Amino acid sequence: MVEPLPLPVPFGWFFIAYSDELTTGEVRPVHYFGRDLVLFRTEHGTPCLMDAYCPHLGAHLGHGGRVEGETLRCPFHGWAISTEGRCVDVPYAKRTPSGGDRAGAVTAHPTVERNQIIWGWYHPRGEKPTFDVVEYPEVGDPDWEPLTRYHWRFRSNPQEIAENGVDPAHFRYVHGMDAVPEGETTYDGVMRCSMVEGPHTAEDPDGSVRTYQSRVVTVQNGAGQKCTRLSGLAETLLMTLVTPIDSQEVELRFAFTRRREKPGSLEEAMGVRSIENTAAGVEDDIRIWQHKLHRVHPLLCDGDGPIPEFRRYFSNFYVETAPSSSQEA
Ligand code: FES
Ligand SMILES: [Fe+2]
Repeated sequence: MVEPLPLPVPFGWFFIAYSDELTTGEVRPVHYFGRDLVLFRTEHGTPCLMDAYCPHLGAHLGHGGRVEGETLRCPFHGWAISTEGRCVDVPYAKRTPSGGDRAGAVTAHPTVERNQIIWGWYHPRGEKPTFDVVEYPEVGDPDWEPLTRYHWRFRSNPQEIAENGVDPAHFRYVHGMDAVPEGETTYDGVMRCSMVEGPHTAEDPDGSVRTYQSRVVTVQNGAGQKCTRLSGLAETLLMTLVTPIDSQEVELRFAFTRRREKPGSLEEAMGVRSIENTAAGVEDDIRIWQHKLHRVHPLLCDGDGPIPEFRRYFSNFYVETAPSSSQEA
C-alpha cells in the first residue's frame, strides 16, 4: 500500500461541472475538496455551490432539496437558503433564528460560469477569491469546434499533475518521444507560462512524413485552471481541469476545441489526431501518477527541469491547515 499523499487540497478555481450538465432548477450532491457539497442552478440561471448540510438539523440539501426562485428549499423542514448561504425563510416560524439570516450560515463557495464550465472557488479558510478565472475566446466561437471531453478519476493531487509540465525528461520515457522538448517557463503571480517552439516531424494521415513549425503555449492560472494552445499543422486548445475529490484523489478532465477546418482536409485530420493522441498520452502519465508517492525532497540531476522553482510557485496555493477539515465545525 502506497503511503498517503502529504499535500493538502490547494485553493483556487476548480472545474465543478460543464454548463450544459446543470439545467435551470437542477439540484445535485457533489463531493470535492474533501467536503460534501450541493450544486444547483436557480430559476434565473445562476449556478451555486454550497456546503451540503442544512444549518437547522443537518439534512443534505443535495438529496431532495429543490430550487424555488433564487433559493434552495431544504427537503427536511422547508427552510429556504439563498445563494449567499443565508437562511431567508422558515415557513413555520415567526422569526428566522438568530444568525441564520447572515450570509454564510451555510458556506457558499464563489461560483462563476465561463468557458462553458461552472467553476467553484475553494479556499480551506473560506477566504474570498484573490484572482479570476481566465476566459478563452476560442470556446464557443463559431470558427471553433464544440468541446471534445475526456474524464478520468484516480489517486493523485493537482500539484503532481501540473509538475509534469516542467519535467521534460519524462516525455521520452513515458511518452516515447525522441527529443526532449526545450521550453521556457516564466512565473508571474498566480500564472505560470511555458512555451515550446520548434520543428516537429509527423506522419500525415496519407503516410507521407513532413516537418513543420509547432508551438505549444501553456498557461496555468492557479491550482485548478490550465490551458494549452497548440499550433502547427492544426490549431487546438486544451483545457486541463483537475478537481481534488480530497487530498488523495482527483478527477481530471480534458476539454479540447480545435479550429474548424474544411471537412476532409489534412488540417482537419491532423486536428482530430492531435486531440486523440494527447488524450491517449495522458493515460501513460496516469499509470505513473496513481501509483507514485510524493517526494518532498527528490534526488534531482542536472538534466531535470526546473522542478524546485515550480514547487515554490505551487506552494503559494496552500495554506497552513490540515489536509482535511471536519464539516462539523
Ligand atoms: S434540516 Fe433543513 S430545514 Fe430542517
Ligand atoms: Fe506527460
